[in-house]
Amino acid sequence: MKIDYQLKPQSERRSTPFTPEENVGFGVLRTDHMFLMDYENGEWSNARIVPYGAMDMMPGAMCIHYGQSIFEGAKAFQHEDGEIYTYRIDKNAKRLNRSGDIVCIPNLDESIQDQAVHALIDVERLWFPQQEGACFYIRPFIFATEDRLSLGISNKYTFCVMLSPSGAYYANGFNNALRLLISKTYHRAVSGGTGASKAAGNYAASLRATQSAAEHGAAQVLYLDSTNTKLEEVGAMNHFHVRKDGTIVIPEFTDTILKSITSESILALGDVLECEVRQETILLDDFIADIESGEIIEAGGFGTAAVVSPVGSYVFEDGREVIVGDGEVGPHIKRIYTVYTDIQNGLREAPEGWLRKV
Ligand code: PLP
Ligand code: COI
Repeated sequence: MKIDYQLKPQSERRSTPFTPEENVGFGVLRTDHMFLMDYENGEWSNARIVPYGAMDMMPGAMCIHYGQSIFEGAKAFQHEDGEIYTYRIDKNAKRLNRSGDIVCIPNLDESIQDQAVHALIDVERLWFPQQEGACFYIRPFIFATEDRLSLGISNKYTFCVMLSPSGAYYANGFNNALRLLISKTYHRAVSGGTGASKAAGNYAASLRATQSAAEHGAAQVLYLDSTNTKLEEVGAMNHFHVRKDGTIVIPEFTDTILKSITSESILALGDVLECEVRQETILLDDFIADIESGEIIEAGGFGTAAVVSPVGSYVFEDGREVIVGDGEVGPHIKRIYTVYTDIQNGLREAPEGWLRKV
């Protein structure tokens, strides 16, 4: 289905390239416009691109009270040919609908979501930061807008896409490996819950645990399942480790883990990375024993924002710390990062359909 959208007002497009002098950081800036669509009476309509700004919403809007709100995170990159390419946004569109299924938000046709992202980037292309390693961070989201206080499924929603011109995540390369807290107190998700979705509430639920991580000198939490025996994921990225033979291992996707598009990409890139990439159930006790015996040599996280983030050590709530390898950023992770970002930036051939020109 092709969407017919309006750009209002036509005149306000940026007219010169965006050439920031310093790294613009992640998620800080906005472009001038956003894409909107409304859901009412059982259908999505009124596609439009309007100036980025405050939205009208009633204080009784159900997203505020009962949390029906879902989002995605994707990226677009400018290649040497000067063109902007979106990266695997078809997967984000599918996942937004999957999140919608989990919190009872109506699906929006994936092709409409794709067109919305491309239409907005087309209008904002001069906002792409002219600096090395930059990207457009793309944030599509849907939230419930019906003004009703009885608990139930909203009958009205807004779909929005906004763009954040963002700088290289590691402006000075990877220098510091993260320390993660392995928490047996806090959990991100339980089986039968909303953990496999990008529902806003999952992120609210992780904040207290992240505060506790900071009290232990850790950056984030590596969550366990509710029995405290299996590794799950980190608050905004999947977890992985590298074994002595170079194999990359990611915890099996379950209904308590978000199915990361970065992880799925790495799983498909074994040949390019020249190593095995697999998923399995990972028991905490085995994981720690394998680090201590030197069987596991590197670890990290995969995510759109985080890209490939190295982990140097794990701390438990009793203060015990386990260091992976020598605690520094290892060669396997540097290579995964380089191969992956080279593919996104068009410096290495991408699998068919992963990058689409705007
Ligand atoms: N896990 C969680 C909870 C996340 O929020 C994210 C970020 O989107 C990820 C994993 C990584 O997923 P992706 O690689 O699709 O960005
Ligand atoms: C992303 O990686 O795109 C995310 O959505 C994580 C977010 C919490 C920054």
